Amino acid sequence: MPELKICFNLNGREVTVMAPPDMTLLELLREKLDLTGTKKGCEIGECGACTVIINKKAVNSCMVLVPQVEGTEVITVEGLSQNGELDSLQQSFIKNHAIQCGFCTPGMLMSAKALLMNNPNPTKEEIKEAISGNLCRCTGYIQIIKAIASASK
Ligand code: FES
Ligand code: FES
Repeated sequence: MPELKICFNLNGREVTVMAPPDMTLLELLREKLDLTGTKKGCEIGECGACTVIINKKAVNSCMVLVPQVEGTEVITVEGLSQNGELDSLQQSFIKNHAIQCGFCTPGMLMSAKALLMNNPNPTKEEIKEAISGNLCRCTGYIQIIKAIASASK
């Protein structure tokens, strides 16, 4: 299948990349752009491990085909820290012991970041709703909710 030229903004930088049109954004990030912070879990839109932010919305990158990314603004977990300093959400996850094996963490962070971008002071219910598509098999939800609430203060 011939490759397409795709241009989009990735973590604040304009990127141009060639990719087959049936490639997912998850594969593009991990296999062509070496951004492996976004995790590959179910690949059917069920686990949230692959969550990134597209145009300020949390999206499962395994469900997005590369042509859909043209002209958008994408943020991955690698784009959270600024000038070598962790984002306040990342700091809060550490402080609140919200990480166990860490596999779900990038996706949780991106769902939480999208929530706080659009709603800086969410209620506990809104936090639960925002991460309802992110599965944590270590079942650390209480600490994760606490970390997001604490970062929003
Ligand atoms: S890998 Fe995308 S939702 Fe599970
Ligand atoms: S910390 Fe292990 S899956 Fe969530």
